[in-house]
Amino acid sequence: MNNIVWDLSLPSLKESFKKYFNFGNILAKNFFDCEETLDMFKYHYGAVTAENAMKPMYISTKPGSYDFDHTDKLVEWAYENGIDVVGHTLVWHGQSPPWLNRNPDGTYVTRSEAKSNLEEYIKHCVTHYSGRIYSWDVVNEPFRDDKEFSGNWREHLRRDTDNERAVGHWYLAYANGADAELGESGADYIFDAFYFARRYDPNATLYINEYNEESPTKREAIAQMVEEINEEWSKHPNYDGRFLIEGIGMQSHCNESTNIEDVRKSLERFCNTGAIISITEMDITFGSPENPAKPLNPEQNKRQIEMYTELFNLYKEFSAYIERVTIWGKNDLESWRAWGSPTLFGVEGEAKDSFNAVVELASK
Ligand code: G3I
Repeated sequence: MNNIVWDLSLPSLKESFKKYFNFGNILAKNFFDCEETLDMFKYHYGAVTAENAMKPMYISTKPGSYDFDHTDKLVEWAYENGIDVVGHTLVWHGQSPPWLNRNPDGTYVTRSEAKSNLEEYIKHCVTHYSGRIYSWDVVNEPFRDDKEFSGNWREHLRRDTDNERAVGHWYLAYANGADAELGESGADYIFDAFYFARRYDPNATLYINEYNEESPTKREAIAQMVEEINEEWSKHPNYDGRFLIEGIGMQSHCNESTNIEDVRKSLERFCNTGAIISITEMDITFGSPENPAKPLNPEQNKRQIEMYTELFNLYKEFSAYIERVTIWGKNDLESWRAWGSPTLFGVEGEAKDSFNAVVELASK
């Protein structure tokens, strides 16, 4: 595939970090075309996330219709090779078919219809893979990027009809018929999503997954939500002695201005909830789509090495709480933000200076 040559005499990422946490990456659905990619993946990674194939729009385009062809291959391959599969994702505003929460005319289905669709979709997906998905990103990116934390996580949930930064179809459908006097609101889809995931796949670890999670507002909203929902679950008649939200996924889509002290504060706050943590979609971009950093100039390269080093030093420090670190992209060519040269491997598969720095600090 392309001109990519993987050098498997390099240190293996998963071996280098095995005393700290598992190491993962993503695969796109065309990965079966390339044995070299699969060999490289097995060599470096112990966890795989489907970059797109397991998102709702690719699994179910219409009610009652499910297509697991691509994901079946991926799950089978991972299982045969002892690689953990991360289920990404069940409930999201993006890449999801409208039937889940909207009528054909674009209006929102009622709260009870939304709940029934949510249960049907989650049940179908998680039972299909039962026992083979190590952890589910049950709810992905539920929060807006607000400036100040209001004191109530529910007020920060996405609930716009369009606006990409705030669109929240599940919230709006769940609000359609909610009885405020009974304490119901659009926010109830979160508890239900985790409840159905636990009910139909009790073996999987259930995660909330979010980006810009180092920002003070999202940090507090995520942590408070995890604490309150776990508390509510502990009083539920079906309580099983476990947290309902067991994991917090820190996407970690970083860039040159990401504040590492904020990352530390989020790690500290999330640890305090009692949940485990995974770094789920890490990359560090430079430049912008209009001003690409392809390749990085020497100054950017130096800064990227520093940032990967600082972040991995933090991950080592918090490794007792971190289950997995996943990089979002096998190399700079195949990254969703290829303009920013964000990964550990260059466009031809060569190890970048950042790779060498990361591997070196694993042994320190
Ligand atoms: O499938 C269509 C194809 O039919 C069409 O010809 C082509 C033309 O552009 O587009 C294809 O869809 C693309 C899809 O990836 C599958 O390749 C979309 O345009 C493209 O926008 C989509 O991007 C994905 C993005 O999620 C969508 O939000 C990226 O590959 C994927 O890396 C990215 O992953 C997300 C995580 O799931 C959640 N966190 C953020 C992360 C980055 O947005």
